[in-house]
Amino acid sequence: MSRTDDGGSAHATQPSEPLKPLDIRSVGTSPQRLDGPGKVTGTARYAWEHPLAAPLYVHPLQAAVARGRVVVMDTGQAEALDGVLAVLTPYNAPRLADTGDAELAVLQSEEVAFRGQFIGAVVAETAEVARHAAQLVAVEYEQLPHDTELSTGRSDLYRPEVVNPTYPTDTEDGDAEAAFAAAPVTVDVTYSTPMEHNNPMEPHTCVAVWEVPEAPGSQPRLTLYDSTQGAHQVRKTLAPLFELPPESVRVVSPHVGGGFGSKGMPHAHDVLAVMAAKVSGGRPAKLALTRQQMFSLAGHRTPTVQRLRLGADSSGRLTALCHDVIEQTSRIKEFAEQTGVASRMMYAAENRSTSHRLAALDIPVPSWMRAPGEAPGMFAAEAAMDELALACGIDPVELRVRNEPGTDPESGRPWSGRHLVQCLRTGAERFGWDRRTGPGTRREGDWLIGMGVASSTYPAYAFPGSVAEIERRADGGGGPGGYAVRIGAADLGTGTWTALTQIAADALDCPLGEVHLEIGDTDLPSGTVAGGSSGINSWGSTVVAAARAFREEHGAAPAPGARTRASMPSDPALRNYAAHSFGAQFAEVRVHTGTGEVRVPRMLGVFSTGRIINPRTARSQFIGGMVMGMSMALFEESVFDHGTGHVVNHDFAQYHVPTCADVLDIDAVWLDEPDLHANPMGAKGIGEIGIVGSPAAVVNAVHNATGIRVRDLPVTPDKLL
Ligand code: MOS
Repeated sequence: MSRTDDGGSAHATQPSEPLKPLDIRSVGTSPQRLDGPGKVTGTARYAWEHPLAAPLYVHPLQAAVARGRVVVMDTGQAEALDGVLAVLTPYNAPRLADTGDAELAVLQSEEVAFRGQFIGAVVAETAEVARHAAQLVAVEYEQLPHDTELSTGRSDLYRPEVVNPTYPTDTEDGDAEAAFAAAPVTVDVTYSTPMEHNNPMEPHTCVAVWEVPEAPGSQPRLTLYDSTQGAHQVRKTLAPLFELPPESVRVVSPHVGGGFGSKGMPHAHDVLAVMAAKVSGGRPAKLALTRQQMFSLAGHRTPTVQRLRLGADSSGRLTALCHDVIEQTSRIKEFAEQTGVASRMMYAAENRSTSHRLAALDIPVPSWMRAPGEAPGMFAAEAAMDELALACGIDPVELRVRNEPGTDPESGRPWSGRHLVQCLRTGAERFGWDRRTGPGTRREGDWLIGMGVASSTYPAYAFPGSVAEIERRADGGGGPGGYAVRIGAADLGTGTWTALTQIAADALDCPLGEVHLEIGDTDLPSGTVAGGSSGINSWGSTVVAAARAFREEHGAAPAPGARTRASMPSDPALRNYAAHSFGAQFAEVRVHTGTGEVRVPRMLGVFSTGRIINPRTARSQFIGGMVMGMSMALFEESVFDHGTGHVVNHDFAQYHVPTCADVLDIDAVWLDEPDLHANPMGAKGIGEIGIVGSPAAVVNAVHNATGIRVRDLPVTPDKLL
């Protein structure tokens, strides 16, 4: 059976009227980032930088064993150090009201579940003293055997109930096994992707202030200056742990230096910062993870082992598509990545099956990393499609075109907009695909040259729960005061400040300069997380609804102080459609025959993501994703030492990400067809699709250059010699 809410392909797909579209004027133009001047002049405040009087500094203590328990913590020397205010341990740390989320149950027991887990913290007058004191704490452990290695042969692989966020674990449509067995052309290949770590420029930072008003019986107030993709989500998650009503917690986060999903939910350091604040007598407690600490405390992308079985007729039409995934989670908290999910809707194979199996290990908790699921899953699936193209003797672009489904194979619904074929054709034309030759045939001196292609997709999510407020501001001396537009949205460097202002300006039918956007603060109405490429869809729809309600209520010439709130409208009609973004990724590579060095002189992405709000910031999102995909193909790998339970290459010296010298001619273009089934802007998400498919395009190009099929990422030179 297909997975649908209401009965799969039997569901009546009544096309519905498109939503009332937004009249656009600013949307579609490219104003420069409104937050740009603040960022380049240093006045835009990140979590660490809010001016607060008399702060204290927190340095964490991390477990030095992969599994066991702390039996002794001698904090005497640390506490005796001048400037040390407190040393938190499992023995003296504040108790939490809820320990249900084991990742967040910081210092609630002596148990060590993974190496690097918090076992304590020093709170001191300076960061240097805190760090020095942390080194003076003597810890003894009872060590227990640990198990950190994912392998296909494990007997304890299990089937989680759902995969992120709520997809079924396994699907079966038709009889994939039988169709595969009967197919005249088959590919049966196993790919692997390594553990990877999110490395935003700004490390995870939380500054916590715990104030207890003097009036008897009054509630404590907690303020967090946090680097997060969702201020309201942080508040909602942390308030109950500390037995505070949500109104007593304020989270402030106007600027964020990247996250890639690792700041999509609060992690243990947020809890530790609050605990430190509780013992700081009302003084702010500042905690910034070091780059090295991030490798055990901010989530990671699970390694995967993926078996792809594709069956096709001799003309390349898929008859069977089986995608079976093995991956890992932490023993203390499950995160099941949805790696095989895109294979359920990508191509018109009548018989399809997908599965996910997990190993629960003594490792840090995995989490979201840009396009969790789609990025590793579409790497394997799209590399396997390249193998099928060769097996069938069909051009890889043509193979994909032949397998284009008219409706969503999974739900039977019509696409809200799917222009993959146009993306492929446009890209092939622009990239000069017709100059591509057979594997290993193009050589310039010591360099072999090749081209690769892959498809890309990402769901068009919009999450309910946002509320926006519009207020007519009092006229200033020099002219009209414009409008305050308030919503607890986030800008993690993606362009929200600018794009959401553009949407608001068009929704209010006023110039850009009359919109005064306020985001990144729980004092503002609720905003959903900047995750799943859903931000602009969700917040934009909400702002449009609020602006329309405002106009209805207050007319075209509202009095100063006129104010209206609205929440994100739910659109039942969208349930009749399958809404996804699509794209075609092209890459050219050069492989040095002597050293195996891979260079990527050209990349091109052609995307179908609905209307683009701001071409300038959108292009940055797309090419940023594509660079991250190239990085996934060639560089990124967290090397886990199973002896110690530790990522050994936990810094930028050894965990390689691309530099400017690695990124040459890279371009992203788009079809820019508004998807008016999606929302009034006609926009679909763009934050993640750039990383989807680009790794396969690079790896397929490496094969085209060399004839060597690398199935285990990353494609390091040793695999090509
Ligand atoms: Mo994205 S990994 O959903 O922030």
